[in-house]
Amino acid sequence: MPEEEPERLISEDGLRLDGRKPDEMRPLKIKAGVLKRADGSAYVELGANRIVAAVYGPRELHPRHKQKPDRAVVRFRYNMAPFSVDERKRPGPDRRSIEISKLSKEALEPAIFTEYYPRTAIDIFVEVLQADAGTRCAGITAASVALADAGIEMRDLVAACAAGKVDGHIVLDPMYYEDGYGEADVPLAMMPKEGEITLLQMDGDMTPEEFKKAVKLAKKGCKIVYKEQRRALKRKYGEE
Ligand code: CDP
Repeated sequence: MPEEEPERLISEDGLRLDGRKPDEMRPLKIKAGVLKRADGSAYVELGANRIVAAVYGPRELHPRHKQKPDRAVVRFRYNMAPFSVDERKRPGPDRRSIEISKLSKEALEPAIFTEYYPRTAIDIFVEVLQADAGTRCAGITAASVALADAGIEMRDLVAACAAGKVDGHIVLDPMYYEDGYGEADVPLAMMPKEGEITLLQMDGDMTPEEFKKAVKLAKKGCKIVYKEQRRALKRKYGEE
């Protein structure tokens, strides 16, 4: 939680603490292929978030009894650097990062043609270097670009973005103060081409109408993210 609670999160003229309009996303930058030793990688800046994703594989899975004869096993590790947050985060997995790893894997797996890679493992690592809320979404966004950069066959990219409720307003892409002092947070991931949602969570309180509005707004955010993901890949592979 940020140390000092701001008096209000939305000003009288409807602007947020960082000057954004309610339906505005933070500045987003994506770069594909940033690590030499990974098969695929990506770097994402979303506002003050700084996140790296690395993909290794498809590679032989050991021990062999963990292999699936008809598909690849997808593994995902979300990790926050000790220096990524205000109060030093103890290194190593905690309940939160284990949960985020699980739901991120589940958000990405439907997009991967795992059946093309039997008996292998696809390992995805997300390292949060600086966190400012929305890291699970930015991590999924980065991981998806890293998977494509690794040449892994996918149905579509997975784009992720959150919406939230702040001072009674539904807002896109909450940052740290809004996440900490807002009323609710709705992270969403989807495959934009078909519109299939692969992650939808809600933390906090919202009416069913507000929830609908938040989902709609988060989907709009995903479309913006998707465009940037594709641009990053095109930049790396010389089409832009
Ligand atoms: O990052 P995300 O919004 O997906 O997850 P969260 O659990 O809602 O966390 C929101 C934010 O709280 C993180 O992005 C961090 O900025 C912050 N946080 C922190 O300061 N210390 C932690 N141990 C965990 C999260």
